[in-house]
This record gives sequence, structure tokens and C-alpha cells, in this order.
Amino acid sequence: VENTSKSFAITAKTMYGFEQILAKELELIGAKNIELGNRVVQFKGTKETLYRANIQLRTALRVLIPVKKFDARNDIQLYNSIKDIDWSEYITTSDTIAVDAVVNSDKFNHSKFVALKSKDAVVDFFREKFNRRPSVNTTHPTLRINVHISDSTCTVSIDCSGESLHKRGYRVEQSAAPINEVLAAGMILLSGWNGQCNFIDPMCGSGTIVIEAAMIAYGIPPGIFRNEFAFEKWQDFDEDMFSNLIDSDEYYKDFDHKIIGSDISAQTLRIALENAKAASLHKRIELKAAPFSELEPPNEAGIIVTNPPYGERLKTHQIQEFYRRIGDTLKLKYNGYSAWIISSDLEALKRVGLRPEKRIKLINGKLDCGYYKFSVYKGSKKQKYQNRTTGAETKSE
Ligand SMILES: C[S@@+](CC[C@H](N)C(=O)[O-])C[C@H]1O[C@@H](n2cnc3c(N)ncnc32)[C@H](O)[C@@H]1O
Repeated sequence: VENTSKSFAITAKTMYGFEQILAKELELIGAKNIELGNRVVQFKGTKETLYRANIQLRTALRVLIPVKKFDARNDIQLYNSIKDIDWSEYITTSDTIAVDAVVNSDKFNHSKFVALKSKDAVVDFFREKFNRRPSVNTTHPTLRINVHISDSTCTVSIDCSGESLHKRGYRVEQSAAPINEVLAAGMILLSGWNGQCNFIDPMCGSGTIVIEAAMIAYGIPPGIFRNEFAFEKWQDFDEDMFSNLIDSDEYYKDFDHKIIGSDISAQTLRIALENAKAASLHKRIELKAAPFSELEPPNEAGIIVTNPPYGERLKTHQIQEFYRRIGDTLKLKYNGYSAWIISSDLEALKRVGLRPEKRIKLINGKLDCGYYKFSVYKGSKKQKYQNRTTGAETKSE
């Protein structure tokens, strides 16, 4: 009889700046010995914790089981150490494999080459022992292996997730610049919003932020729409445990406020509607086509979390003027709201003309970003002058 209460080491990968909120999420699903690293959180858990991590964590990109950690200074050492692992514990020669590598080291500079060498090592392990080899399947392998090299420390892990967990399964249509789902969820959790007031994304694009917000508000696990997790292909897959977790109603809660997504582009908003439908959230999110300056917020205050255009397509003076107008609209109509804005353009963020109460560094794709909290009070209009006299960096135009 299999011992399902056995505890083992697990790693969850995340994005820059989300380690602490991921640790909090892990506590809630019963993870033990939680340790924060750089874009990773390590913990101990059972098979149930592993399944829950994949189904429930909003800020994890993937969940891994580390199998070996060793020192390697060149390809030969890497190859030998990987070939020494008893891979027959995990798969047979009729299974398929894929290897992903993440390399942060001056001893190994091409992650693709590291992945190739590592794949050779696994294949040669089988060839030498069984005279047959598993084949490679980069999209749907039975076993996805993750090789992480930091300087000369190599960690070989089994990938439990498969496709990155930001692929929730509700995105049916792409818009021009959708934000990553994990980034959106992390931004909302960092703001402290948990359904206690209205939520607005006035530049919602394909709807990622409002959909993630609705999932948080109603307690919908982010993994519930996924077609597949890697662990479902493993020999030790516990189908009963997994379907009990998927079908459980323990997660869900009520929500009595509004979630509003709005965008100037009606075409983009249609994409948001399709995505919301795919998540069965179209009746729980109000979608409105309007420029921010014309959107009428509900009377009862709330929170704004938004990802305005960054200016790759606009000229500097245009983008600064655009952010100045965002600030004007906030001051005019959003009394009592807090507005959290992510942007890679820190100069433009200054043009909002409110003093940021918090400044958090995040990374969107490859762009370093500021994620700023602005609180809008009565008299915020005057605040820019006060900022000038107190020496805050916010400038009036
Ligand atoms: C970076 S995208 C937001 C992407 C979104 N977070 C997503 O995941 O799809 C910025 C959005 O702002 C919208 N936008 C630009 N100017 C606007 C305005 N004045 N009022 C409202 N939305 C505007 C654009 O149409 C675009 O969809």
C-alpha cells in the first residue's frame, strides 16, 4: 500500500518580487518548512500538497521535485552526474522525455546546449542499461526534466506542472500585449485586495487582471480550467485524490462588490469577453468600452489595478501626457480609491502627479517595471504642490 502521507522536498518557481506572497499561498495549502529563494520557494509536502500546489497557487510558474543537486564546471561533469541518476525509477524506454534548462553561469552559457547534453545523458543511461532509449517529445512528454544551473551548482528536477502554470486554460484569444496571468495575480495579491471592495481595471485589454481578480474574489482555483498537469502521466498518479481536489467545493466563496473591466478599444474588449466566458466569469465581470476619462466609477470606493500602455508605440511626450491625464481622471473621479499602476516607464509614472505610497519593482516580460500605489484623497489635486515643497519627486507639469 502506497504511503500518501510521505513528505518530500518540492520547489515552486515564481517571478521576481513574488517570493513572499507565494510563501503565504503555500502556507494556506499546508506546505511545511517553507524557505524563500530568488524567484523560487522551497518547501516540504505530500502528494496532496503537490497536487494542491499545481491547482491552487496563483503566483507559481511551475512546481518541481528536485532529484539531485551537484557541482559541475563543464559539460562532461554535467553529463556524468545526470547519467548517474537512476532514471528507470521514473520512466521506461517506451516513455518520452523533454529537458528544459535554465542557466545562470559563466561556465555554461547556452541553456539550449545544456538541455541537449542533459537529454543525451538520460538517453545514454537507458541505452547502456537496456539497449533501448526513450524518445523525445518536447510538447507532451511523459517526463519533463528541469536542469537549473546557478554558477556551478546544478539542480536536476522533475517538472510536475508541464506547461507553465500561467497558462490557466481560459485564454482563448490573444490581444496585442496581454500581461502574464501569474504577474496579474501577483499584482492583485500584493495590493492586499481580497474581495473587500470594488475592483476596476480601466485599461483591461484582454481582461487578464479582472479575470484573475474575479478568480481571487470567488475563490476559484487558477488550475481548474487546465487540460493537463505533467503529474497526470506518471505511474504513481492518484486519480481519486486528484479528481477529489478538482471537484471539491472547499475553495469557493461569495463576493458582493463589483469587478469592472474597461478599455478604449471595443475590439480588445470582445477578446476580454471571450476569455471571461471561457473562465465562466462573464456574468461576474462588468465589461465596458470607454476611455478611462469617460468611465463612471461606482459611488462606493474601491481599488484600481492596471497596466496602461508603456509607450513602445507612443512617443515620449505623448506617453507622459497620457499618464498626466490618468492622474487627472483619478483626482477628478476616484476619490477614496487606491490605484496600483504597473509601468516600465518610471518617468511617465511621475506624471500621474500623486505621491506614490508604495513603489515595488516587478518584471514584465523582459522589462523592469515600477508597480506603484497611489491613494486618491479629497484634495489630491493640491498634492502636487505639497510634493514640490516637501521635495518628493512627483512633479507638476
Ligand atoms: C498594456 S495593454 C493592457 C493589457 C491587459 N492587461 C491584458 O492583459 O490584456 C493597455 C490597454 O490600454 C488600452 N487603452 C489605451 N488608451 C486607453 C484609454 N485612454 N482608456 C482606456 N483604455 C485605454 C489599450 O486599448 C490596451 O488594451
